[in-house]
Amino acid sequence: MKNYEIAVIPGDGIGREVVPESIRLLDIVSVLCGFSLSYKYYDYSCEYYKKHGTMMDNDGLKKLRDSDGIFLGAVGYPGVPDHISLWGLLVPIRRTFQQYVNLRPVKLLNGVSSPLKSPKNIDFYIVRENNEGEYSSIGGKFNEGTEDELVVQESIFTKRGVDRVMKYAYELANKRDKKLTSATKSNGIIHTMPYWDERFKAIGKLYPEIKQSQFHIDILAAHFVTKPHEFDVVVASNLFGDILSDLGPAVVGGMGIAPGANLNPEKEFPSMFEPVHGSAPDIAGKGIANPIACAWTAAMMLNHFCEDDGAELIINSIEGLTSEGKFLTKDLGGSSSTREATEGLIKHIKKLA
Ligand code: NAI
Ligand code: MG
Repeated sequence: MKNYEIAVIPGDGIGREVVPESIRLLDIVSVLCGFSLSYKYYDYSCEYYKKHGTMMDNDGLKKLRDSDGIFLGAVGYPGVPDHISLWGLLVPIRRTFQQYVNLRPVKLLNGVSSPLKSPKNIDFYIVRENNEGEYSSIGGKFNEGTEDELVVQESIFTKRGVDRVMKYAYELANKRDKKLTSATKSNGIIHTMPYWDERFKAIGKLYPEIKQSQFHIDILAAHFVTKPHEFDVVVASNLFGDILSDLGPAVVGGMGIAPGANLNPEKEFPSMFEPVHGSAPDIAGKGIANPIACAWTAAMMLNHFCEDDGAELIINSIEGLTSEGKFLTKDLGGSSSTREATEGLIKHIKKLA
């Protein structure tokens, strides 16, 4: 029987509440589908940082390297600056393991209400570049503390980095409705974004059957609200993709149901699976976080392992739960706890199996 070794990092806040619930689902699904999962837990988090002064231990990356996948809740907590939790844990994992695709599905589930008045069928993917772009550590402060103080922050776009994420996005569109949209801002950002557009077109030549479109990020954000049903796959740089992948979920029911995967498509290194949401300090400790985002994220991990039957069971149980409208958490208009919502998912999995 195939076994997958998972490095589990529950992290902070609601990460610690939703991850154990997803593990329960994974354990049930693996038995039903004839594979097994073993877990190694790591307490890397802001709490770890407060004790040790770093987000993970020195050979943390080496330890994670041996896993088949990394399953992470969320990190970030009041008292520890957000750039420390991001740059001390998530960014090194994403970059060291060449997880250059951040894949985020946006789908309006049956039974979930959208803030849009009359939403149509919304079902698309955001492919966010995850290793370079605007999120670079190159830059600095000059003349600090004087009236001439200045700060510089560089963006990095490499041919290799842009081309590989474009190829991934074209391939994904090829398997779906054959429509790819690129997010740009080449009118204002006049070096990196025209380059992004140039590579979008160049790689597009290899995929003549795909309908290509590109929009400046400002109007694209508007289209996400006015006609989200028209998108199939959207490819974006690190910053634009980050913004779009909170906006996308907002039109289909919010952060509580938004899944995400940091993929190394070549499977040369482990990929990392984490919901889009953060540690949600405003609701942490109350036991009311929606477990759906993390559960759907677990399904994406199974897809990555080619355990598609298991992934489908979890995704269908999610749609089963939202369609039925019972056992929903507060963010979806219900009053169930994280645990009760998970019990609802388990009931649907057993019914579907
Ligand atoms: P957030 O996603 O944690 O919360 C935004 C809003 O969505 C809050 O009102 C929260 O209650 C709600 N929400 C999020 N997940 C939910 C769930 N599963 N069920 C119900 N409601 C949910 O984003 P925020 O507040 O900007 O960041 C909080 C902390 O998380 C910060 O320290 C930030 O740096 C960190 N963060 C970490 C991420 C990660 O580890 N990948 C991603 C985003 C933020
Ligand atoms: Mg974000």
